[in-house]
Amino acid sequence: MKLHFQDLVRMKGAKPIAMLTAYTCPVARGIEKAGVPVMLVGDTVGMVEMGFDSTRAVTIEHMEYHIGAVRRGAANTHIIGDLPYRTDKDPETALINAKRLIEAGADSVKIEGPKTSIITHLIEHGIPVVGHTGLTPQTAKSFKQVGNTSSEAKRVADEAQEIQDAGAFMVVLEHIPYSLATSITRALSIPTIGIGAGPDCDGQVLVINDALGLGDYWPPFSKQYAQVSETILHVAKAFSSEVASMEFPNNIIQFTGNKKR
Ligand code: KIV
Repeated sequence: MKLHFQDLVRMKGAKPIAMLTAYTCPVARGIEKAGVPVMLVGDTVGMVEMGFDSTRAVTIEHMEYHIGAVRRGAANTHIIGDLPYRTDKDPETALINAKRLIEAGADSVKIEGPKTSIITHLIEHGIPVVGHTGLTPQTAKSFKQVGNTSSEAKRVADEAQEIQDAGAFMVVLEHIPYSLATSITRALSIPTIGIGAGPDCDGQVLVINDALGLGDYWPPFSKQYAQVSETILHVAKAFSSEVASMEFPNNIIQFTGNKKR
């Protein structure tokens, strides 16, 4: 059963919230089958799937394409769609673009930074919003941890509070000291979702490519549950050598049982 944003709010303090990013239909299908209650179609897609150096190259059309694919794979999961760089530059532009993401299949949208008037505007028009503070890759100069001086920690804590006060139903805390995430989580009434923010957040999000071991760099705070890049290498080498030796397709039994193809 698909969770409404209010169901997610009720999970605060009751049950840890698991969230994975997803960008494609078959991966979304697997994540839904596993019972993960929320997927984030993040603009990380630009870096982990499209080969860009930053998330700033991602467009609203890219997001519509990926949200559509994820929705086709996961009809019954709450999907959050990221508003990419500058597509939320003012309240009206943000509303037009948020509607496009909802039309593509998202249930809610995520906005980076303390853009309180924009968050409020979307909520007034019926669009549930997730906030994001700490490291905010759309505007960050580096991917280093944020919030480790007292003034930075105060700024991040203030931003989280402002995001809640503007009406967001959940907030992502990215790459901040664990103790800061703990105090923000205690201070807010909405769930906090951590990525590199320690165990005390109300939930955790992982980029699916990091979890799969798909790619060639993974942040130190992520965990690889598989080594899919190694599997790809192994499969491609095996296939190519079997074509060379003519073992493939000569030694396979003809398979006609798959009705879909
Ligand atoms: O774009 C994204 O995938 C994100 C997560 C890293 C939280 O914002």
